[in-house]
Amino acid sequence: MKKVVVIYWSGTGNTKAMAEAVAEGCTDMEVRLLQVSEASVDHVAEADAVAFGCPAMGSEELDDTEMEPFIASLSDNVVNKPIVLFGSYGWGNGEWMADWEDRMLDLGAKLITEGLIINEMPDEEGIKKCKELGKTLAKAIE
Ligand SMILES: Cc1cc2nc3c(=O)[nH]c(=O)nc-3n(C[C@H](O)[C@H](O)[C@H](O)COP(=O)(O)O)c2cc1C
Repeated sequence: MKKVVVIYWSGTGNTKAMAEAVAEGCTDMEVRLLQVSEASVDHVAEADAVAFGCPAMGSEELDDTEMEPFIASLSDNVVNKPIVLFGSYGWGNGEWMADWEDRMLDLGAKLITEGLIINEMPDEEGIKKCKELGKTLAKAIE
């Protein structure tokens, strides 16, 4: 069975709710849902596909305590790896996600679809979008 890992950081639970729904959407896969503090680069290297989640923090930045250093440590472990990105935001315009996408592409990742951004806590429609994102990632490695 193909392996998917969902790795996320969430301060107040909004991106956590997204991560749980993304994982739920990865049907017929072996799925691991990990906070970034529990994850290692080996989890990324060993997975067939990875979903990363992080809200907009700082000034349109990734969380600089855990997610930023984790992404910085990936080096060539995401080259050609099917990846999706997601995260919650507050008042911005999604700039952090656009920057994150560019960064992952520069690392050689195979972004399957554009990053999913949801304002604050996902509602029913948002949860559905998260599940669809997981399904799209799973389909990419079927
Ligand atoms: C320190 C801090 C910085 C933030 N910076 C931004 C930002 O630059 N742009 C934005 O749209 N939202 C920003 N937000 C809002 C969060 O992205 C938003 O509340 C999000 O839903 C939090 O997700 P979480 O519950 O997964 O932590 C910030 C929130 C905090 C606490």
